[in-house]
Amino acid sequence: MSATEATKRLGIRHPIIQGPFGGGLSTLKLAALVSNAGGLGSFGAHVTPPDRIEALTRDLRAQTNQPFALNLWISDHDPGGLELTQEEFDRVYQRFEPYFRELDLAKPERPQRYHQSYEKQVEALLEARPPVFSFVFGIPSATILAECRQRGIVTLGAATSIAEAVALDEAGIDLIVATGMEAGGHRVSFLARAEDSLMGTFALTQIVSTRVKAPVIAAGGIADGRGLRAALTLGAQAAQLGTAFLACEESGATPEHRAILLSDRTQHTVLTRAFSGRLARGVRNRWTDEIAPTLGTLAPFPVQNWFMAQLRSAAVRASRTDLVSLWAGQVAPNLRHRNAGVLMDALIADL
Ligand SMILES: Cc1cc2nc3c(=O)[nH]c(=O)nc-3n(C[C@H](O)[C@H](O)[C@H](O)COP(=O)(O)O)c2cc1C
Repeated sequence: MSATEATKRLGIRHPIIQGPFGGGLSTLKLAALVSNAGGLGSFGAHVTPPDRIEALTRDLRAQTNQPFALNLWISDHDPGGLELTQEEFDRVYQRFEPYFRELDLAKPERPQRYHQSYEKQVEALLEARPPVFSFVFGIPSATILAECRQRGIVTLGAATSIAEAVALDEAGIDLIVATGMEAGGHRVSFLARAEDSLMGTFALTQIVSTRVKAPVIAAGGIADGRGLRAALTLGAQAAQLGTAFLACEESGATPEHRAILLSDRTQHTVLTRAFSGRLARGVRNRWTDEIAPTLGTLAPFPVQNWFMAQLRSAAVRASRTDLVSLWAGQVAPNLRHRNAGVLMDALIADL
């Protein structure tokens, strides 16, 4: 009963996709569990070094013989974010220095790169041949897309606006995620500024599903069977859930983050560039409310993100939640499940 155009293209039983999490928050366990339960599990690999992608795909295959998605960020830096001179690096560090001190961290060495290279990652992904290649922040080149077709890799791209959905469709992407501004994590816009691409899931899904040939997957603000059914009613052929899976014990979120996701603090989420340099939604904390306004101009992505990642390791070790991102979507106050198997069972039963 739950077969749709999307389930057919993806070769899955239920129109449920566990959205990928970047920044080390994806786990093999969560992705495999969702795929084994008949949905599409995803692994966010944008921080995975290219030479780890084949092993990652092998590990996923070892845990599930069902389709799964590997996810990359197509654009790996914003202007000014590729290389910094020592002087520029020092200037950015100055703004972070009080917080490095607060966490007893020494000044870091200037790195050669602030992010993995998408070009090298996608080469490795083609070699590894995951069943599904999902991506954000752009459209792969025609050559990469032709390689995917030849190798039987299904493509799944995200749109935050009608124009982006049409562009993905014209490029021949197999399935399109219509992602509303309610969603947790990054606003993955690529044709206009994220701040100018803030359509909600309800409007975006309805409109996009009448404008594109590819099956549409609704993402943003969906956490239970009611939301899933509503998405299907609006013209979507599946739904992608992020925040609801992030709150489950199988995700890579820290116990402190998961506890906050299941608390009243999620009534206040905010879209901010203060963590990574790109716009993203999370729970408000000291960093978003008190520190960010004092930072002045933020460093571009991924430089801002790299400095925050240095702080993050020490903050997490100290169970601190005031200096780290607490990604969450607007639907979080309605979350009920702490276990992804139970969440999948509930979603499937509700369908
Ligand atoms: C912590 C976090 C990290 C995310 N990272 C990625 C990512 O790397 N790639 C991607 O395509 N989507 C990413 N997303 C988006 C989710 O896959 C999903 O589309 C979104 O969370 C759906 O909205 P919801 O949070 O309201 O359920 C992320 C979401 C969260 C909450």
